[in-house]
Amino acid sequence: MEVIIKPDAGAVGKAAARIFEDQLERKSNSVLGLTTGSTPLGLYGELATLAHANLVDFSRVTTFNLDELVGIPLDHPLSYYSYVRAKLFSRVNIPLVSTHAPNGLARDIPKHCEEYEAAIKRAGGIDLQLLGIGTDGHIGFNEPSSSLNSRTRLKPLTPEMVEENTRLFGTDKPPRYVITMGIATIVEARHCMVLALGESKARTVAAMVEGPITADCPASALQMHPHVT
Ligand code: GLP
Repeated sequence: MEVIIKPDAGAVGKAAARIFEDQLERKSNSVLGLTTGSTPLGLYGELATLAHANLVDFSRVTTFNLDELVGIPLDHPLSYYSYVRAKLFSRVNIPLVSTHAPNGLARDIPKHCEEYEAAIKRAGGIDLQLLGIGTDGHIGFNEPSSSLNSRTRLKPLTPEMVEENTRLFGTDKPPRYVITMGIATIVEARHCMVLALGESKARTVAAMVEGPITADCPASALQMHPHVT
């Protein structure tokens, strides 16, 4: 793993954007894996600035989101797809037909998960997968105890997340499940980039980089990967 330490969030966003820029310079039709969370916002802002100055071209890019809430349409304002659309897609020149996310309204979820994996393969596999990390070491919605061999599948949200959704959605029937890429799906990307900001993530990052490879810290599976930043 290549560990890059920066003094502040702004510098992290810039360094991460540089990695995206290099990727798109090398391969204009790159396949990118994208994520939600607050951590990538600096990166998405930098990419928007670069796109505005015509320094980065998303016109031939394909994207796959890491996860999605179950029970709401992709165009719901609180869907993860809408989040990435607002923070990135709407600010760069990517055709929306090239942007993919698991469909939280799929009738047959296991079948849909298989199709999502197949769509990633058909696109040629993910070149650069962006990841955040939870303080418990989760990536995507692969919480501790998730199989390191897991693939895209349905997962229940933690009680804390359901509580947060109750507040956000303003209803007593908030989303309780997500579809998430699995650990094995994630590590198939050619290059994985994990962003983590602030002291509260320091111990988790140490466990990911230097701790034992264990389902207790799902991100530790990245130690086996040949190209992680
Ligand atoms: C959520 C998401 C993760 C994200 C993590 C950290 O649980 N499922 O994909 O990386 O939280 O979020 P943040 O970047 O806001 O700290």
